[in-house]
Amino acid sequence: MLAKTPDVVVRSQGIINILPHAERIWDIYEHQGEAGRGVYGSVIKVKLRASTAKEPVVFAMKRTYRDEAIAGIPPTAIREISLLQDLRHPNVIRIERVFIAPESILVVMEYADTDLQRYMEKIGGPLEPCEIKTLTRQMLEGINYCHMNRTYHRDLKPANILLQRCDGKHVLKIADFGLSRQFSYPLSQKHTPCVVTMLYRAPEVFLGAAEQQTYALDMWSVGCIFAEMFKGKPIFEGETSEFGIILNIFLQTVGASPDIRNLGEKGQQIWTALDKKRTKPHPLSDLEDVPPGAIDLMMKMLALNPQKRITAHGALQHPFLL
Ligand SMILES: Nc1ncnc2c1ncn2[C@@H]1O[C@H](COP(=O)(O)OP(=O)(O)O)[C@@H](O)[C@H]1O
Ligand SMILES: [Mg+2]
Repeated sequence: MLAKTPDVVVRSQGIINILPHAERIWDIYEHQGEAGRGVYGSVIKVKLRASTAKEPVVFAMKRTYRDEAIAGIPPTAIREISLLQDLRHPNVIRIERVFIAPESILVVMEYADTDLQRYMEKIGGPLEPCEIKTLTRQMLEGINYCHMNRTYHRDLKPANILLQRCDGKHVLKIADFGLSRQFSYPLSQKHTPCVVTMLYRAPEVFLGAAEQQTYALDMWSVGCIFAEMFKGKPIFEGETSEFGIILNIFLQTVGASPDIRNLGEKGQQIWTALDKKRTKPHPLSDLEDVPPGAIDLMMKMLALNPQKRITAHGALQHPFLL
C-alpha cells in the first residue's frame, strides 16, 4: 500500500520518512479537504496518488509545525512513533507513515469519519444506552490493549476518540497519543481559539501526586466520557480553572468515594475546605432512567483513589457491559 516514490523521500526507516521539503508530500498524496482541527495541528483527508486499487485509498494526515525552540526531533518523539507503529488493534488508530520535514511533521493514519465530540454535538443530548454500551466496550478494548502494551494515553477526551462508520455501525478508534505535544506548541497560541481541556483530567494529575500517575489516570477519563454520553454534556463542566474543576470533582464524587488520603497534601487541603453540605452522591444523580449497573460502573471508574479505580480489564468484565 505504500507509495513508491523514492525520489521524494530522502531517507526512510520503516514508517519514518525524511522529506526535503514539506510541500513534496503532495507528490505522494492528494488534498481532499479538512478533516478536523486540534490543539496542536490540523488534520486533512488525503488520497494516495500511486494506487492501483479500484476504490480511492484515503488517509488522514496531521500536520504539526515544529516548535523552533526544540532543535531536531526529540528522542522521546522517535520512541513514541515506533511505539505507535507497533500498536495494532481494531480500536486504536493505525499510523501508516510519518514524514519529517524541516518545519513540520506529517503523520499519515487511517481515516475516520468523525470524532465523539462532534458526534455528540450533532446528537445534541444523551446517547441511547445500547450505543453507549457498544462505544464504551470498544473504548475499553482499545485502552486495555494499550495498557497491556505498557502505553498510556494521558489525554483521553471525546475529541480524541474517533468514529468510523462501517455497515451502519460505529467503529471506535482511540487517537492522538500525544506525539504532537512533544515537539510542538499548542495551535491556540498562534492560530485557533482551541483550548486544552482539563475536564477529563484525573484528580491525581491535578494534585500532582507524581507517584500515583499511572494507567488508572486513563480510566478516570474513560469514566468522564462514559458518564458524559448519558448526560449529554461534560460532567465536570462549569468551571474553567484548575481549582474549580477539582472542587467540582470532589463535590460530585466524595459521596461515593471519600478516600482521598492518598492524594497528597493538596488533596487533604481541598477536603478540609470543602463545603460538605453541597456534595452530591454522584455526577448522574440528577438524571432519571440511568441503569443502576451503569452508575455502579461509573463510580468504579471515578474512584478518587487511583489504586482503587477499576482497570480497563476489570471494567470489561462488569455486568453492565456483558
Ligand atoms: N485519523 C483521523 N481521521 C479523521 N479525523 C481525524 C483523524 N485524526 C484526527 N482527526 C480530527 O482532527 C482533530 C484533531 O486531531 P488530534 O490528533 O486530536 O490533534 P491534536 O493533537 O491537535 O488534538 C480530532 O479531534 C478529529 O476531529
Ligand atoms: Mg486531540
